[in-house]
Amino acid sequence: MAEELRYEKLAGELAGLIASGVLACGERLPSLRRLAQERRLSVSTVVQALRQLEDRGLVEARPQSGYFVRRPPPRLAELETRAPPEAAISVDISQRLMRVLQASNRPGMAPLAAALPANELLPVTALHRLYAGVVRRHPQLLATAAYLQMDEPALLRQLVRRSLVWGGPLASEELVITNSCTEALSLCLRAVTKPGDTVAVESPAYYLMLQLLEMLGLKALEIPTDPRTGLSVEALELASRGGGIAACLLVANGSNPLGCVMPDDKKRRLAALTAARGIPLIEDDIYGDLHFSEQRPWPVKAFDTAGNVMLCSSFSKSLSPSLRIGFVAAGRFRSAVALHKTMSSGATNPVTQLVLAEFLESSAYERQLRQLRRNYRRQVEAMQDAVARHFPAGTRVAQPQAGYVLWVELPEGCDASRSYEAALAEKVAYVPGELFSPSGMYRNCLRLNCGNPHTPQIEDAVLRLGRIFAAGNARHSRAGGNP
Ligand SMILES: Cc1ncc(COP(=O)(O)O)c(C=O)c1O
Repeated sequence: MAEELRYEKLAGELAGLIASGVLACGERLPSLRRLAQERRLSVSTVVQALRQLEDRGLVEARPQSGYFVRRPPPRLAELETRAPPEAAISVDISQRLMRVLQASNRPGMAPLAAALPANELLPVTALHRLYAGVVRRHPQLLATAAYLQMDEPALLRQLVRRSLVWGGPLASEELVITNSCTEALSLCLRAVTKPGDTVAVESPAYYLMLQLLEMLGLKALEIPTDPRTGLSVEALELASRGGGIAACLLVANGSNPLGCVMPDDKKRRLAALTAARGIPLIEDDIYGDLHFSEQRPWPVKAFDTAGNVMLCSSFSKSLSPSLRIGFVAAGRFRSAVALHKTMSSGATNPVTQLVLAEFLESSAYERQLRQLRRNYRRQVEAMQDAVARHFPAGTRVAQPQAGYVLWVELPEGCDASRSYEAALAEKVAYVPGELFSPSGMYRNCLRLNCGNPHTPQIEDAVLRLGRIFAAGNARHSRAGGNP
């Protein structure tokens, strides 16, 4: 029997035993060696089978102890779509957001605020080696300036190559290499809007997107967003009937904060609607490679036949946030975006461009992604479990399908903004929900970063948070201070 069939057969049999309760919740599976011996399989085949079960959430590996049957996900209620205000409004979150992010950086703070991965999950040593090699082999890179040909052909080639699996390929001519995803989003907004314009966003929306709107003097129109399937195309259709929407900005794959992935049919309808109405769509696909499903979800861009979608991404979540390298496939807006890029920062560092090209060319990137997906998924699930154990009854959580943030809705009456100072005093940071909405909705919600392995320290931080929310924290309501 082919190797592939052998591990699938074993995985199927073990899954059956778990489903029927023969292997009970929390029970330890036979050791790798024993399974290999008794089933006359190689250890690597058994490992593959167990990894598959792990990816399906059926078993978990515990360091030095082996594999255990995972208990079913917590039975917390599902989130429901909320109704945001129907009018576009100015955004004013930046000051509060900066205070939250700065506070989360204080020494000893549990890292549940900024959406950052743990250092040990990043391939830092490999990047060091690549930087040294590129500088040695291409000494001229630091001795030239590029104003016209700003993008390294080797990197463009790799980006096009990777896009084949997204329903692509992207056209090399529509790409602009940027200093980050944030820069890509900002260039796109500047290319298609002017101050005072309205931009449609998800509700809740990633706070940095809201901050960009604020900085550029743009208004935000919150569009109702289904916690499982993303932005409502019907609501956008209604809201854009009279014109007046200059752009739509969203994260279709692994929204931040909901973690949802928009189904293909909805992506197709969204691409068609925005093209028909002449609304440029700015898509942030930073979590597209960090999905929990078998196959990489396609971006909305894959359904765009009009050059109307600008797909932005970066390698901050998969390689290192310090690389500061991303890109935009800007479709028909490419030349406007490239012009803004020249004016705002010139070419992206050519050494970093080549380092990234070499990383993408090797098999290391795919390996890195496989490992990250497994870790992120496991960490998100561990956080859901911890919230179920420690947060007040009536708490709901999102069911992320990509990325590594978890959106939590506390029972009515809890106020994550009011409890924020108390949490800081307990050395736990998070991002209060109201910062994901220009109208300040979601005060009973918060976002937790799951970028770190779920250690006993993280578990304890969640426990402390749960106590604070349960107590309703009178101390800080007296102080009257929102973050
Ligand atoms: C959806 C989303 N877009 C963009 C970014 C920022 O990416 P970059 O570091 O490349 O600017 C983040 C980081 O949290 C994010 O969650």
